[in-house]
Amino acid sequence: MAAAEKALLAANWKMNPTDGGAALELVNAILPAASSNVDQVEVALFPPFPWLLGVAEVLGESGVKLGAQDCFWEMSGAYTGEVSPKMLEGWCQWVLVGHSERRAYLGETDAMVAKKVAAALSCETLSVIMCVGELDEHYVSGTGSEVVTTQVKAGLSSCSADDSARLVIAYEPVWAIGTGKSADPEHAYKTMRLIRRVVGETIGAGAARQVRVLYGGSVNAGNVQSYVELPLCDGCLIGGASLKADEFSEIVRVTGAVYGHR
Ligand code: PGA
Repeated sequence: MAAAEKALLAANWKMNPTDGGAALELVNAILPAASSNVDQVEVALFPPFPWLLGVAEVLGESGVKLGAQDCFWEMSGAYTGEVSPKMLEGWCQWVLVGHSERRAYLGETDAMVAKKVAAALSCETLSVIMCVGELDEHYVSGTGSEVVTTQVKAGLSSCSADDSARLVIAYEPVWAIGTGKSADPEHAYKTMRLIRRVVGETIGAGAARQVRVLYGGSVNAGNVQSYVELPLCDGCLIGGASLKADEFSEIVRVTGAVYGHR
C-alpha cells in the first residue's frame, strides 16, 4: 500500500505556456477531469508565477490545488527577482523546491534546497514537494542511490517529524525528465523505498510513514498506471504531458481508477 489514501498528481508546467490566455485555456480544459474525483486524486497545478493569480481565479472552489514552481528562503527583503513563501500563502497550497532544472541551470545546491524547504514549511498553509534524482552518469555507474540519499538527507536537514504531513518527495531521475525514457517501475520502486528509509533515518520512523513520495520523469497516460499502482508510491509529478489537456485528463482518470480499487 502507498502511505496515502489519496493520490497526488502534480502538474509542472515549467516555463509554459508563454501566453496568459493559453494558460487559462489549459486550466479550463483540464478542470472537469481534475475536479471530478477529488476524494481519490488530489491534483495540483504549478503554472509559471505570472499566471498563478489568473489560474487561482479559474480554480475557485473546485478542489484543484495551486502551487508555485519555486520560492526563496527569506520571507522579505532586498532579494531582487525572488518570491518568498509568505507571498504564496493564502492562494497557493503547494510549492515545488529543488527541481533538477533549477539545480542544473540556476546552480541550486542541496544547501539552498534545504533552506527553501525549511522556509516554505515554516508557512503553515503551504505543503512542499522537494525533488531529488540522479543524473544519467550516476545511474549508469550504479551510484544513483548514494546521490539520492545525499540529496534527501541534506534537503531535510532543517526539518522535523512535525513537518512530514506537509512534505512530499518527488523522485525524478534526471535522465528520465523530458526524454521519453521513463524509469523502469522496479527501479522507481526501489528508489522510493530507499527515500522512505532515508527520511526515517533523518527525521524519524513516523515521518517515513507519513511523508508522501512521488515518481516523475516522462510520465504519460500510457505509463502512469505502472507507477501509481506501486506500493509506496503516492502519485506522480508530470511535466510535458500536463500541458496536453486530453492526456492529463486521462492521467487523472487512470489514477482515479487505480485508487478506486484499493
Ligand atoms: P516530464 O517532466 O514529465 O516532462 O519528464 C517531469 C518534471 O520535470 O517534473
